[in-house]
Amino acid sequence: QTIYILNGPNLNLLGKRQPEIYGRETLADVERLCREVLADGTDLRMMQSNWEGQIVDWIHEAREAAAGIVINPGALTHTSVAVLDALNAFERPVIEVHISNVHKRESFRHHSYVSLRADGVIAGLGIEGYVAAVRRLCTLLG
Ligand code: DQA
Repeated sequence: QTIYILNGPNLNLLGKRQPEIYGRETLADVERLCREVLADGTDLRMMQSNWEGQIVDWIHEAREAAAGIVINPGALTHTSVAVLDALNAFERPVIEVHISNVHKRESFRHHSYVSLRADGVIAGLGIEGYVAAVRRLCTLLG
């Protein structure tokens, strides 16, 4: 089985943009750390797009191809009914991850459309949040 790790806008710049908020590690580092905790027989696909429609398409693809989704929607978290609707059409576990503690930041980051669907939400653990999310999915998927 395969876990999809989906990343939204600007997360391609992870490690470079606002390192005081998001740290200096890259998405490649995140992938490496997540692979270390994967259960036997489970694989992952790390994806990132700056395009809302691409994220929606990957969630649709996941309906056939993924046992669970870890998603950091970036700013789409706070704006996208389309991402929420796509996740509502996905019938397996979803964990939402934010590298920063969004609740400690601007008030527009306090609301998440995706949290209406997510089975778990992690914020403020840095990139360790992805690792925790992958562990949790592996537990849920047995
Ligand atoms: C983020 C938080 C969002 O508010 C922001 O737009 C991001 C990253 C995080 O990982 O902390 O792009 O999802």
